[in-house]
Amino acid sequence: MTLRPEITKLRELREKALLGGGKEAIDAQHSKGKLTARERIELLADPNSIVEFDMFVQHRATEFGMDKRVALGDGVVTVFCRVGGRPVVTIAQDFTFLGGSLGELHAAKIVKAIQYALSTGVPIVFLNDSGGARIQEGVDALKGYGDIFYWNVQASGVVPQIAVIAGPCAGGAVYSPALMDFIIMVRKTSFMFITGPRVVKAAVGEEVDEFQLGGAEVHAYRSGMAHLIAEDDKDAISLIKKLLTYLPSNNMEDPPRVDTGDDPERRDYELDNLVPEDPNKPYDMYEVINRVVDLGTFFEIHRFWARNAIVGFARLNGYVVGIVANQPAYLAGVLDIDASDKIARFVRFCDAFNIPIITFVDVPGYLPGTKQEHGGIIRHGAKVLYAYSEAVVPKLTVIVRKAYGGAYIAMGSKHLGGDFVVAWPTAEIAVMGPEGAAEIIWRKELEKAKTPEERDELLKKFTKEYRDRIANPYVAAARGYIDAVIEPNETRPTLIKMLNYLLSKREVRVRVPPRKHGNMPV
Ligand code: HXC
Repeated sequence: MTLRPEITKLRELREKALLGGGKEAIDAQHSKGKLTARERIELLADPNSIVEFDMFVQHRATEFGMDKRVALGDGVVTVFCRVGGRPVVTIAQDFTFLGGSLGELHAAKIVKAIQYALSTGVPIVFLNDSGGARIQEGVDALKGYGDIFYWNVQASGVVPQIAVIAGPCAGGAVYSPALMDFIIMVRKTSFMFITGPRVVKAAVGEEVDEFQLGGAEVHAYRSGMAHLIAEDDKDAISLIKKLLTYLPSNNMEDPPRVDTGDDPERRDYELDNLVPEDPNKPYDMYEVINRVVDLGTFFEIHRFWARNAIVGFARLNGYVVGIVANQPAYLAGVLDIDASDKIARFVRFCDAFNIPIITFVDVPGYLPGTKQEHGGIIRHGAKVLYAYSEAVVPKLTVIVRKAYGGAYIAMGSKHLGGDFVVAWPTAEIAVMGPEGAAEIIWRKELEKAKTPEERDELLKKFTKEYRDRIANPYVAAARGYIDAVIEPNETRPTLIKMLNYLLSKREVRVRVPPRKHGNMPV
């Protein structure tokens, strides 16, 4: 049977669209160690699940020879697809056409994709690989960015938004990923900055290359912009797939529960001796987390940034939970500016998407010093208080060891609406550490010591007295600030039982006048 010419034409057009900016540009993309937009989507999507839209969109610019440089699709591929059986809207910029630069129609495609995701309640995956605003299109390109930012904000808290930086991302272009929930950066091939090395040199005299300025390591370790770091494009796609398994499709749904096969009654007796006898000795909070949650399910976010705090997703009896913890093995688990930002942002994400929060506490307080004070630790620390107080998802807290001062209150305490707060017998809940407290309370007695040895002896005695009388879990338990004191080995079964009861939690709130939104100290 001969094909009708209309169908032949359609097939030819499709073939052309698949080539994006052409064979040569595709080869150049591969030679940089990058996949093309379509190859990335193919890797992400379940077989036979892709429906592409706007394949024939073209820009309408005419200036600077643009009338002669046209590609079907205009440098971005937008699709519905399934990932692990669940629908996802995916946007992939095509660097092979004009460097994936963003013009009016390129932006309109992205906006349409976000709107589809919003109207159907499915997550957005945005694979960024672009030279930024299409220079030839001027203000139309800027308008396009403005529209995308606006729609990223409309989608915020409604559907999960995951950005991958898989190439350049410069200038205002960085703000779409910044407005989304998670950023994955690809090592060696991606960078992200507001102003590039040339402008940096001219403006402030610093000499840096793109990667020193905004490579994956910089954003994963120092700025905290990158939540996850991928070795290459393929690895980035695997990370997206994994991340999606912990997320609901939208804020009206719960994350999917899966049977992990781990016994909900499993007790881990190693936990009983994990906390060292000496309260000043560190131990590794990852041990606690990994032994309590369903085995092998902890998926850490922001692993390399603000390592004194730990956040990530895990499963408890198959249910997705958000884990927040202090890490005594790094800076003693202190809360500083970055740790506060890290925790507050994660708590708010969990709350927006119906993910219960499990907090493991071992915190000596907020970090003192001019650097922190002048950097605004008050404002940043307040975010943690705000986020926990605002969150209405089930909040379960385990006080493992230190819970001192304001940081005790901040870390998911009863006072900020913690639903179930338990302490291990090793917990020390007080205004400050027992030794510091003894130095203040018994200052006069200590001054009377005749030798340093005698002073040390006295201090030891007073410290013990403070610990026995105040810095233990039983004083708080006597007031009901702690719901239970449990053996460490009981942590998993206890949390699982209580989580089951709390899954039907409905927030009982004090009546407050209606408001648009609060004024979080951002
Ligand atoms: C139009 C662009 C472009 C852009 C790249 N191209 N960026 N075309 N507008 N913004 C084109 C190149 O001219 C080239 O076209 C092709 O894409 C591939 O680019 P190369 O330079 O050959 O690739 P590479 O060496 O990998 O370098 C990539 C790059 C570089 C680092 C992104 O192209 C670059 O610096 N581009 C300019 C980046 C920039 O200043 N953008 C504006 C940012 S400000 P040919 O013809 O060779 O195929 C911004 C404001 C947004 O985005 C504000 C929103 C509020």
